[in-house]
Amino acid sequence: MSNDAQQSYRDTVAASIADPAGFWGEAAGLVDWITPPRQVLDDSDPPFYRWFPDGRLNVCFNALDRHVVHGRADQTALVYDSPVTGTQRSYTYAQLLDLVARFGGVLRDLGVGKGDRVVIYMPMIPEAVVAMLACARIGAVHSVVFGGFAPAELAARIEDAEPTVVVSASCGIEPTRTIAYKPMLDEAIRRSAHKPEHCVIVQREQQTCELGERDLDWARVMHPDAAAPAACVPVAATDPLYVLYTSGTTGKPKGIVRDSGGYAVALRWSMTNLYGVRPGEAWLCGSDVGWVVGHSYIVYAPLLTGATTILFEGKPVGTPDAGTYWRLVDQYDAVAAFTAPTAIRAIKKQDPRAELVKEHDLSSLRTLFLAGERLDPDTWQWATDHLGVPVIDNWWQTETGWPIATNPVGLALFDIKPGSPTLPTVGYDVRVLDERGEEVAPGTEGAICIRLPLPPGTLPTLWRDDDRFVASYLSAHQGYYLTGDGGYVDEDGYLYVMGRTDDVLNVAGHRLSTGSLEEALAGHPSVAECAVIGVRDALKGQVPRALVVLKAGIDLDQAQTDALEAELVQRVRDEVGPVAALRQVDVVDALPKTRSGKILRKTMRQIADGQEAQVPSTIEDVGVLDALAPVLRAGSPS
Ligand code: COA
Ligand code: AMP
Repeated sequence: MSNDAQQSYRDTVAASIADPAGFWGEAAGLVDWITPPRQVLDDSDPPFYRWFPDGRLNVCFNALDRHVVHGRADQTALVYDSPVTGTQRSYTYAQLLDLVARFGGVLRDLGVGKGDRVVIYMPMIPEAVVAMLACARIGAVHSVVFGGFAPAELAARIEDAEPTVVVSASCGIEPTRTIAYKPMLDEAIRRSAHKPEHCVIVQREQQTCELGERDLDWARVMHPDAAAPAACVPVAATDPLYVLYTSGTTGKPKGIVRDSGGYAVALRWSMTNLYGVRPGEAWLCGSDVGWVVGHSYIVYAPLLTGATTILFEGKPVGTPDAGTYWRLVDQYDAVAAFTAPTAIRAIKKQDPRAELVKEHDLSSLRTLFLAGERLDPDTWQWATDHLGVPVIDNWWQTETGWPIATNPVGLALFDIKPGSPTLPTVGYDVRVLDERGEEVAPGTEGAICIRLPLPPGTLPTLWRDDDRFVASYLSAHQGYYLTGDGGYVDEDGYLYVMGRTDDVLNVAGHRLSTGSLEEALAGHPSVAECAVIGVRDALKGQVPRALVVLKAGIDLDQAQTDALEAELVQRVRDEVGPVAALRQVDVVDALPKTRSGKILRKTMRQIADGQEAQVPSTIEDVGVLDALAPVLRAGSPS
């Protein structure tokens, strides 16, 4: 694309920041409103901002009904491709609408009303998407919990969201085993102080489950004779569409609230302008509906656009091989694909010469998008060399719901600089600040912040916790949202995101909290204190490592120590979930701390990663760190 397009994009970004109401007021025309908003931005109560405060709409109507009305009834809305069960099935917009309206009726008849919550704990099956959209249809608030989380994590979310109904399935299917979901759900409900009134369970033929008193069989309640379809319930643009819990530094997950109107507008705008996908085209997003990428780019954005979304139940490798993604692109003529860098690293490891790429016709593919973690230049280079299309890094967070920075291929393709997700996106006034809140010079690293207001689609607050919202994100630098990522901007305005500045872990593109892993370890009767750090990993980007100190008087020989370490690994798996991927626990004599008692996780991480360690002058006892260094270095990549 021309320099004119690039300049025009830079002008658009500048205009969106100088006059947010002007820019988003025009973009609001991309969705169908029941009551079009007269006010675009309510900025009367900073640091709280509300988009389209007097607008009313229904997001499900925009994702389904309006396409059926406007000639897309017979177009495929969703393809379900599941190599782990040997299933391939397509749903047209009309068929998906029928299922969603019926499940909306089921929820309504179970007493779910506008604003009530529904927790969805499901594998990657079409019923998960149906349940999400059914909530949107009746104005209920869904909260999807990733299937790789264990009962304790699910319980924390049920307790906070207080759902009327939980929707789940009998099992999930991982490449090497079938995972019974129902016992985990039952255990989570047992642990939670809040009990849902009903659970609707999809019985999968691979492994069914017994249903209890509060449980209902999805197939039975969805029988056309049983379920009367629900109509779309109008909601305010500012009403919540969903709550998605994400990891902070503490063990208590943060309930990211997503509003309805701003999200619909931002996603519809982003799908065509940032990702370059148009109505009628197919697209593959290889994430999971349990993560924000799945919410936004498996479900809402493609359907709001009238595109075809591919729901893939499998892994980038092993189901059956490292060519699965290329087969999907070929078979469904996907114009773009989106996954995490770790998936490409897994593919590259198994198929370094990209032989499986050559076996497929990828002529439909225009772009590969990667997000969820830093895209390392080697992975970028491999994908670029073998796919022959632009490989686009985009940076965002659960909190923002759509990219903060990307190469906006739908409007202009900028030169790619490996290691950079290119430029801040429209509506995001990104600044890199030092500790005093001063903007740093180009090339200097600092805290990446966004000047308020954030654009539509981003979090207006945390679920029932305005104070935590302000304390977590808005109090470090007044007038700015703190992303929690560090990085810098170069002379051309390209952003470089170098990693979290807090203790949030990123394992295979999955965001995890050191706090929840540490809580699981600390709950063991032998553990006095512990620390979890994220160390570099060639495949997953980062993996957790744990260091534990035993209670005084516990003296173990080597065999007992080994057994305890294995027990602690299992404990994290049971409490947090397999997705935490904790494999290494070391029993140590002491943890390095500052004089005020803060554990020096960053310093330990630097040693484990083989980097030069920054030892703060406030360290309490440098001898502790010296004694620990050989343990940390053992198993480090260097
Ligand atoms: N339900 C139950 N268990 C799950 C699960 C789910 N939905 N998802 C993952 N798990 C389990 C896995 O079975 C695995 O268990 P194991 O320790 O017994 O093998 C564990 O959690 C870790 O899973 P995963 O992170 O998928 O690692 P992996 O080693 O099985 O596979 C990759 C590695 C790179 C192939 C995989 O991480 C991947 O596909 N990554 C893409 C990341 C992604 O899409 N991120 C979303 C943000 S864009
Ligand atoms: P999540 O909320 O799970 O999407 O995780 C968000 C975090 O993942 C961000 O704060 C970053 O630390 C990291 N991240 C996501 N995308 C990128 C990217 N393109 N480059 C660097 N880091 C990223």
